[in-house]
Amino acid sequence: MAELIRWGIIGTGTIARKFAEGLAFARGAELRAVGSRTRDTAEAFGERYQIPNRHESYESLAADPEVDVVYIATPHPWHKENSMLCLRAGKAVLCEKPFTVNQEEALELVACARAEKRFLMEAMWTRFLPVIGEVRRLVQSGAIGRPVLMRGDFGFYGDYEEDKSAFLPELAGGALLDVGIYPISLASMIFGSSPSDIISAASLGRLGTDELNVVTLVYPQGEMAITSSAIRLETPQDAVITGEKGSIHIHAPFWCAEKITVSLEGKEPEVIEMPLQGNGYNYEAEAVMEALLADELESPLMPLDESIALMGILDKARKQWGLRYPMERGEWNNRV
Ligand SMILES: NC(=O)c1ccc[n+]([C@@H]2O[C@H](COP(=O)([O-])OP(=O)(O)OC[C@H]3O[C@@H](n4cnc5c(N)ncnc54)[C@H](OP(=O)(O)O)[C@@H]3O)[C@@H](O)[C@H]2O)c1
Repeated sequence: MAELIRWGIIGTGTIARKFAEGLAFARGAELRAVGSRTRDTAEAFGERYQIPNRHESYESLAADPEVDVVYIATPHPWHKENSMLCLRAGKAVLCEKPFTVNQEEALELVACARAEKRFLMEAMWTRFLPVIGEVRRLVQSGAIGRPVLMRGDFGFYGDYEEDKSAFLPELAGGALLDVGIYPISLASMIFGSSPSDIISAASLGRLGTDELNVVTLVYPQGEMAITSSAIRLETPQDAVITGEKGSIHIHAPFWCAEKITVSLEGKEPEVIEMPLQGNGYNYEAEAVMEALLADELESPLMPLDESIALMGILDKARKQWGLRYPMERGEWNNRV
């Protein structure tokens, strides 16, 4: 593989645009190709980001010999299918969050990557931000003592008309899969991905998906994480990790944090600021490229077994609310 890593993007929506902008800040990245369902959108996106190879189908993008790694930026129900298309065509894949719709799909996707011996990673970009690296360092060094409690929330006010896709069951909508994955993933980073208990509740809206939820994770040694997410309610959007000797406050919005406050017993709180260089998506892209250059098949910071476990947590929470998506009931065929 060349030192310059050549990226392709599948999908041309909101996050595809942000990722394309982020890639411009990622050292060693070249945005070589885009794939869309139509020629016009591929051309328009290609024009906007000066991408030479513009494909009018995802299949054609996957087959592009000038692409090393593909970023999947389609809605949740197509993550598995689009990722597998690329893996089977010999590409490395960075797939948007939530990794898949449920754990069954995650297992299938990871099995495919392992069979094809290709790199795959869930695009949980928060993990790769500089200040979140500092949080990991502080926790691992024992600075706050044993971490015992985490609280984090991601809630925004979505409009039914403007943000309709966030609510639609056929797009695996609802707060949990859309944004609840962020605080749950943060808890997993701190306490591990195997809670011994999951206690959750949700308020389902008029389309039957969760507009507000609380998911409490209890870990084998008694640690707890209280997470919540919402798509019709603006919440503080911060997170706090409390240990036996102090705490770390990740300032809002915690999923693209630049600032933390570390409070240790008997000391003045210390504010640490690590401004993003770029729009934040460049860090996960750089981590992918580092892994590819080192011939790794997964990321040590966002391992595949953890992504599988996280989907299992989301499944269990949804089961407690009786929320199953149409494709899980065999009622809807998610073809593009
Ligand atoms: N990491 C983050 O910060 C972040 C932020 C927002 C969203 N996301 C994730 O990224 C994914 C995409 O979200 P988005 O907000 O970018 O969505 P979006 O604006 O609706 O764009 C999705 C793109 O996927 C393609 N697509 C394929 N099949 C589709 C279908 N049946 N309906 C609609 N679009 C379809 C379309 O591209 P073509 O027309 O070109 O084929 C579309 O532009 C979601 O899984 C979401 O959770 C992540």
